[in-house]
Amino acid sequence: MHLSVDNVSKTFGVGRTAKCVLEGISFEVNTGEFVALVGSSGSGKSTVMRLVAGLDRPTAGVITVDGQPVRGPGSDRGMVFQKYSLYPWLTAAQNVAFGMELQGLARREIRERTGYYLEVVGLGESARRLPRELSGGMQQRVAIARALAAQPKVLLLDEPFGALDLQIRESMQEFLHKLWQRTGLSALLITHDLEEALLLAQRVHIMAPRPGRIVRSVQVDLDHQNMAHLRVSPEFLSLREDLAQCLRGLEPALAG
Ligand SMILES: Nc1ncnc2c1ncn2[C@@H]1O[C@H](COP(=O)(O)OP(=O)(O)OP(=O)(O)O)[C@@H](O)[C@H]1O
Ligand SMILES: [Mg+2]
Repeated sequence: MHLSVDNVSKTFGVGRTAKCVLEGISFEVNTGEFVALVGSSGSGKSTVMRLVAGLDRPTAGVITVDGQPVRGPGSDRGMVFQKYSLYPWLTAAQNVAFGMELQGLARREIRERTGYYLEVVGLGESARRLPRELSGGMQQRVAIARALAAQPKVLLLDEPFGALDLQIRESMQEFLHKLWQRTGLSALLITHDLEEALLLAQRVHIMAPRPGRIVRSVQVDLDHQNMAHLRVSPEFLSLREDLAQCLRGLEPALAG
């Protein structure tokens, strides 16, 4: 699998009201790679995600998956959004099955994959529960199971834990990391949380706003095995501080 975003720009509107939101964005995600884009609010992260998902078209540049230009949404890319996007009237299992039904998979295949991916996210016991009977973290795990069940080439995560409180967020980060290790999935994570990006990704790109662009890219060669340990290790803290300074420098007006 190879996702390539090559020199992508996006302008909304035309003439005097035109607004350049992204300029010359380039990055890649290869098989089994976990890549994160980090930037402050308004730096264009969700716009990048919408373009990769095929929900919108770039003004310039090309996005390809395995060499094929992205022309619209497709089952090769699985999306997980910040807001719980489950259907409230469907059970966890029905929510997971929904996308596969749209894909036109056979009933038996749908049943098997639904059971399998609910197990993968640790919710085998909760198959028949409605979203309102599940915690926020559990609901996001259902959303992740739903995305995985379509067996996408790459998982696209836009602030997937943004609505969760800190403790659940940390356990979800651990969960996602283990899932990634276990399944070898390829993922693109969008977050404003630098720590989250460094804990999960092997490659982190820092975005600056107005217009949104990548100003720094780092390879994270840290031992991600023990996340609790990693969070407080000197190497991690110094890399985090280095990049935090870079991010602060991008928002001079807001700096304290
Ligand atoms: N459809 C649109 N029309 C006009 N401007 C838009 C549109 N979509 C996004 N923008 C603008 O693009 C900029 C980037 O928005 P985007 O949602 O991509 O940022 P973000 O980095 O995801 O922010 P956040 O962290 O708050 O989610 C913002 O200034 C936003 O107002
Ligand atoms: Mg956003």
